[in-house]
Amino acid sequence: MIFLNNSLIYVIFGILLQLLLVVKVYSQILTIKPDLRYDHTATLIRDGLYIIGGATPDGKTPNYPFLFLDVSIPFDTKQLKWHDLSNLSNNDIVPSHQFAAAIKGGADNNTLFLYGGMNLDNNPMSLVYTLNNLSWDTPKINGTPPNGKLFITPVIDYNGLIYLFGGYSTENIYTNDMFILDSINLSWKNVSSINAPSPRIEYSAVFLPNKKIIYMGGQFNNTTLPLSEVYLYDTVNDIWTTQMTGGSIPSARFAFSSVLGLDGQRIIIFGGMNSTHIISEALYVLDLNNYNWYIPSFFEQQLNARAEHKTVLIDKYMVITFGQGYTRDDSDSDILLLDISNNDQYAWTTSFDPTPTIIHSSNIGVVIGVVFGSTFVAILLLIGSYYLRKWYKNKKEQTDTITTPEEEHPREILRIPGEKNTQDQNQQPTSTSQILQISGNTSNSLQNNEMIQEVRDENKGIPTSGEDHREDHP
Ligand SMILES: *[C@@H]1O[C@H](CO)[C@@H](O)[C@H](O)[C@H]1NC(C)=O
Ligand SMILES: *[C@@H]1O[C@H](CO)[C@@H](O)[C@H](O)[C@H]1NC(C)=O
Ligand SMILES: *[C@@H]1O[C@H](CO)[C@@H](O)[C@H](O)[C@H]1NC(C)=O
Ligand SMILES: *[C@@H]1O[C@H](CO)[C@@H](O)[C@H](O)[C@H]1NC(C)=O
Repeated sequence: MIFLNNSLIYVIFGILLQLLLVVKVYSQILTIKPDLRYDHTATLIRDGLYIIGGATPDGKTPNYPFLFLDVSIPFDTKQLKWHDLSNLSNNDIVPSHQFAAAIKGGADNNTLFLYGGMNLDNNPMSLVYTLNNLSWDTPKINGTPPNGKLFITPVIDYNGLIYLFGGYSTENIYTNDMFILDSINLSWKNVSSINAPSPRIEYSAVFLPNKKIIYMGGQFNNTTLPLSEVYLYDTVNDIWTTQMTGGSIPSARFAFSSVLGLDGQRIIIFGGMNSTHIISEALYVLDLNNYNWYIPSFFEQQLNARAEHKTVLIDKYMVITFGQGYTRDDSDSDILLLDISNNDQYAWTTSFDPTPTIIHSSNIGVVIGVVFGSTFVAILLLIGSYYLRKWYKNKKEQTDTITTPEEEHPREILRIPGEKNTQDQNQQPTSTSQILQISGNTSNSLQNNEMIQEVRDENKGIPTSGEDHREDHP
């Protein structure tokens, strides 16, 4: 009877400790604190957001130049769980850089194409890099490449064709060439620039459901370009047209971001700057049915203004990443989230919830992890306590100077789940970077993938596998 009562206490204790450890693993992952940065790239591939390159406000290489954020799970922008991917197996082939363009494409439609950019430390830089399964490559691309290499906003169509318009060349020329990079056949094509917008950089662009691309704003030689006209490139017929706009036309700007509204009927632009300031009237919407601009009906326009950031649409959120003009104060984070699901009321939020299906699986993951983990620990404890008690009895008979099992247990439990990660709390490299350092020794992309999976599992608080625990236990 006494033995059973004790066991029950161990079980409850075990479950509590298990929960504590889950929390602990979580908090360990929070330790990466990336430098502020701007003119980086942000790309969504599968359920991960990849932030590559960019420079700190004083023009230096940021501390973690290759960041990953798992967007398959909920997160809060006040507690972002950044992962450092700078130690990827062959990451060193991509030099520190800014002003590059990145977009998802390729035959598998899951390859990141990194185009152009300017290196920060005088290393030669290839024109195109690809990142596939966390392994970098410099693909051979047929045909004549564009001159414009910097400050381009890339757009991709439904056939894997990447459109690269204008940009600034390394020969200090502003261009208005339109080039297609076929991300599947790996070839260049110079298409029409008849009636194209004037040469420009740091414009904004969105691929529309009617297979046209809309181009807005930008700058040329320190002249900020207006939004009173926008430009449409018809990707099917290779034709440029100019479209006048009306309504509350935003002031001229460049280095802003834009996304297609969830209904495909409007463009939402955010942030940007003119030749002197980051623009305080940050948010405007362009109705694609009549090309009228309007200011969405909500809150202070001035809050959260920034420029040279990058925005990615994920589910119902405009996910705005880094940029100039914020300092990590109370109302600002590396990531801003604008929930655009309701056209009548866009809403800033700090909590990201992925689509229901993904939420479902990851919640289940956590629940299974905790329940299974706790049960497992409980069973181990039951067995363990039996032997411990036996051992204790024997020992007591021998010496009588031993600590009680109640005191002994906590330490043993603490060594159990996730020991690899929680052993030394003062050591700076987090569980993630430790894992990824391992990956630095291998060139196997499949392994890299597993690393990411492992990182994700940790995120979800799933304890490490049972086999590890058994060995540690008496
Ligand atoms: C692309 O074609 C345009 C004419 O449409 C031409 O002016 C330009 O020089 C070409 N660009 C390159 C890099 O060949
Ligand atoms: C690639 O995936 C996107 C969705 O992420 C889709 O809209 C697009 O059509 C796909 N492209 C190809 C070539 O399959
Ligand atoms: C890519 O190449 C294949 C085979 O050469 C060809 O059938 C296909 O049309 C090409 N795609 C494009 C977009 O040019
Ligand atoms: C630049 O933006 C600032 C802030 O929005 C504004 O006060 C200023 O008038 C703008 N300058 C020009 C030339 O438009």
